[in-house]
Amino acid sequence: MSACYRMKNIDSISHVRGESLYVDDIPETGGTLHAVVFPSPSAHGVIKRLDTSHATNLRGVQAVLTAPDIPGENQIGGVIPDEPLFAEDKVEFIGQPVALIVASDEATARKARKLIHIEIEELEPITDARHAFEKSMFLSPPQTFSSGDIKKALEECEYVFEGNCESGGQEHMYIEGQASYAYPGEKGSIRIVSSTQGPTHVQKTAAAVLGLPMHLIEVDVNRLGGGFGGKEDQATAYACMAALAVVKLNKPVKLVLHRLDDMMMTGKRHPYSADFKIGLSADLRILAYQARLYQNGGAAADLSPAILDRSLFHSTNAYYIPNTQVTAYSCKTNLPPNTAFRGFGGPQGMFVIESAIARAAHELGTEARTIQEKNFLRNGDLFQYGQKATGASIKKCYRIASKEFRVSELASEIRTFNKKNRVQKKGMAMMPVCFGISFTNKQMNQARALVHIYQDGSVGVSTGAVEMGQGVNTKIVQVVAKALSIDPARIKIETTNTTRVSNTSPTAASSGADLNGKAAEIACSRLVSRLKNAVAKKLGTKSSDVTIGEKGVMLNGKPAGILWEEAVKDAYRERVCLSEQGHYATPGVEFDKSIAKGQPFAYHVYGVAFVTVIVDCLRGTYTVESVNIAHDFGSSMNPEIDLGQVEGALMQGIGWMTMEELAWDKNGRYLSNSLSTYKVPDIYSAPLEVNCTPLPSRGHRKAILRSKAIGEPPLMYGIGTYFALQNAITAFNPSYRPDFNAPLTPEKVLMRLYSRHS
Ligand code: MTE
Ligand code: HPA
Ligand code: MOS
Repeated sequence: MSACYRMKNIDSISHVRGESLYVDDIPETGGTLHAVVFPSPSAHGVIKRLDTSHATNLRGVQAVLTAPDIPGENQIGGVIPDEPLFAEDKVEFIGQPVALIVASDEATARKARKLIHIEIEELEPITDARHAFEKSMFLSPPQTFSSGDIKKALEECEYVFEGNCESGGQEHMYIEGQASYAYPGEKGSIRIVSSTQGPTHVQKTAAAVLGLPMHLIEVDVNRLGGGFGGKEDQATAYACMAALAVVKLNKPVKLVLHRLDDMMMTGKRHPYSADFKIGLSADLRILAYQARLYQNGGAAADLSPAILDRSLFHSTNAYYIPNTQVTAYSCKTNLPPNTAFRGFGGPQGMFVIESAIARAAHELGTEARTIQEKNFLRNGDLFQYGQKATGASIKKCYRIASKEFRVSELASEIRTFNKKNRVQKKGMAMMPVCFGISFTNKQMNQARALVHIYQDGSVGVSTGAVEMGQGVNTKIVQVVAKALSIDPARIKIETTNTTRVSNTSPTAASSGADLNGKAAEIACSRLVSRLKNAVAKKLGTKSSDVTIGEKGVMLNGKPAGILWEEAVKDAYRERVCLSEQGHYATPGVEFDKSIAKGQPFAYHVYGVAFVTVIVDCLRGTYTVESVNIAHDFGSSMNPEIDLGQVEGALMQGIGWMTMEELAWDKNGRYLSNSLSTYKVPDIYSAPLEVNCTPLPSRGHRKAILRSKAIGEPPLMYGIGTYFALQNAITAFNPSYRPDFNAPLTPEKVLMRLYSRHS
């Protein structure tokens, strides 16, 4: 990796010392009140009676707020207006907010919560997407992506295989839960400190809920203790509730969800169910792919329609398939509205095509890798949505990984191992990834930055990017340091604040660093030219003769004896503006949803992973022995941070595919609602070895400093674990017919080791 800088994450020291500030760490302002949400105890029903009087009368309780207390609109739906802040006459999921209790302290608010009485006439809850589909319960219209002539192609294929598959949901399990702290200001204004990925979404929704103009709401974000998509939209409700309480009580109000409330009330990754049909030629080219995806959306749309789209965008993963038809349904169920989660529907779409390939390979008695490799996307191939593949490096990644990690030898070692061992079996699988970078909603592909150079030469930078552990602030420091040619120590990243940088897109779609970094670059380049002009004027020369930066002013490459801070001071004295705003909008992105064609992505990220597992065939337990990755980072601007993203995302993908299992009972009650009933990957579930080799590349010009977006793509390498496990099971039990039902937990592995296929 040709790093322009090697720089540690600017937060590492304060994180390790416990000095980094999260919402719950903010010193409390005098008079602060504490709020707790009263959630619906029923998954589906009509509210017959709601009695909050006992709660209201409890000593220390300041107010119990419900829908009629909302001065503006009781509506928080971001894409489709279908989600009330507080339930009115009906409830549609367990955990749906019905009331907010505000008290002098949290313990009192919790006590009061038990005194609220609600009577609900129960209706039948639906928790399964196919069940909702049968009842025509949809959140948005179905969407189809297609290319070529699917009907003709399926008729002409040498082989056609069918099947179905399921992938489960996933808890975001951010370490900091949903949290907000709102303060009353002058003239009816409100300041909301929120743990949100989308400050403007909070601002806009709070304004609508409170019936106020947006300029009366200031949203401030310092950093998040993890978001992973779970705070792209879903921090908003709690921020709105805190702000509502501020309006009603004119006191600061803090609302920090308890972990159990957070798990019960918030949406998760969407579970998907799917049917597929795959057609191949005699020489194993995939000629046709047809699928139906059933998305379990929960009780309101939230971001589901956009997530549905991304499942379709990535439904052919890294393969070129000339004839496709993929239809996706967003099904309405009585679960918390499911939401963005790292990969944003992409992983779910990819799991289906990989399942189809695994099915074909099994039926044909060949290895999936043979089919995968034959069908890799090449430059010039069209994605089913019409964009032409450029810089398609999937084949290169495959070649590099195969060579660097001696994959053929590894495969034959595994065969030998499996011959020699009866109750331990190994399996390997290859997982290619092709992920599109950009919001698929065009208008979101914009960002702004505000850069101040102070009189002492220090620099303050505000952007729309939210730091959530992914290192975007560090990357922006690097961008500004490079653009101004100054030492990173001179640069401070300010909080993300809607009064400094307005109309922000959420930090999501892996594009936070690209969009906000490019905006910062633009602002800096204008500052540099103004400074150069000022210096040139002073020296009586042309601005093209001077450069300016950490080494001070250089005149035709020679030091002019003026330090950076002196040049800044001179410019100030000459009344040169030392502040600048940059605006960046990704050029060339376009997508027409009505025909499902366009150029939605600035570029694609590619990579290949080989996952090796070992299964204990007496117990069904397993270990991921190694994950060997070749990844197209472009030209990584920060290899340490990027590698951290690869490892973290991979681990999240492995968790999703193997152990994180959501369960509900028939009443729609969430059973895996705590850390004792929901298995999160820990150090014992981590691969024994993770190797990641970068594809040599000059990078992509639409990526910040040619360093490609990294946040989401590596999650999908984890999908390889499913198929590696499947291969190990097959080695033990040849009569097992591969099925596709993630997560493949140890229990499920055990059952499959001893299943008999008739
Ligand atoms: N890494 C950490 N440590 N914490 C997070 O919450 N979120 C992921 C990814 N990496 C996340 C993370 C998700 S879902 C996205 S979209 C990207 O970071 C967002 O940040 P970026 O656009 O700056 O990459
Ligand atoms: N990715 C992530 N988040 C989003 C997107 C997307 O494509 N569109 C809207 N929010
Ligand atoms: Mo990430 S799911 O786009 O926040």
